[in-house]
Amino acid sequence: MQGLAKQIEEAAAVIRSRWSGTPKAGLILGTGLGGLAEQICNKTIIPYTEIPHFPMSTVQSHAGQLVCGELSGVPIVAMEGRFHFYEGYTMQQVTFPVRVMKALGADTLVVTNAAGGMNPHFDLADVVVIDDHINLMGDNPLRGINDDKLGPRFPDMCEPYSHKLNEIALQSALELGIAAHKGVFVAVAGPNLETRAEYRMLRGIGADVVGMSTVPEVIVAVHAGLKVLGFSIVTDICLPDALEPVDIQKILAVAATGGEKLSRLIPKVFDSLS
Ligand code: HPA
Repeated sequence: MQGLAKQIEEAAAVIRSRWSGTPKAGLILGTGLGGLAEQICNKTIIPYTEIPHFPMSTVQSHAGQLVCGELSGVPIVAMEGRFHFYEGYTMQQVTFPVRVMKALGADTLVVTNAAGGMNPHFDLADVVVIDDHINLMGDNPLRGINDDKLGPRFPDMCEPYSHKLNEIALQSALELGIAAHKGVFVAVAGPNLETRAEYRMLRGIGADVVGMSTVPEVIVAVHAGLKVLGFSIVTDICLPDALEPVDIQKILAVAATGGEKLSRLIPKVFDSLS
């Protein structure tokens, strides 16, 4: 077995030894959005430090543990705390858990993040169902030798986010009375927020929301053949001509409000999957 495939197997073996379920989906909980983990039933919690080859989470607002269990009766593995490129991890490290989710048997990845809203129709704490993305991180997790057993050299990107899952998510949001939009997510490396000129450019190239995560994980999910459903929560309004300094505490508070919406919405989407 090649290096990466071997590491994936070793990590998956440790998780299997602690949890006997087979996940239908993997879930990545973004900054301030960890509240959803509380809704997982029959939980087995595995700290990342106990999983071989998992990097360590350094962000304060991230717990750094894998929560295995059931959401709406659907077996899932959820990452409470993700790895960001801006923390200094390589793209391979950032996306390693997605490989492990696939190895455990997941066929779907649900990703969430806190993002800056550049579409003037979007409000604070609104839910955005990610329809497509733009990778401006300046790197790619698939760079280097391709292991054909993990996925193709040139993965197709015509539908990285499942249209079917997106429709289910938008319909579910409507039924729950949660404001949700479809949108294009652009990923930047961070960690600084954008200048006015950068927001203007990002909006100009077709993005509705901007953040510092998600795209690497989605690229690897597509490479691995997983269906993807992505959500952004608008945590700050990024209109270049009315820009205000961001306050990270405020972003986290807004993320908590948005997270509460996702903790109603995501289980409802899973209801339709089961
Ligand atoms: N830019 C980049 N990442 C972000 C932002 C933003 O405005 N808000 C939350 N994450």
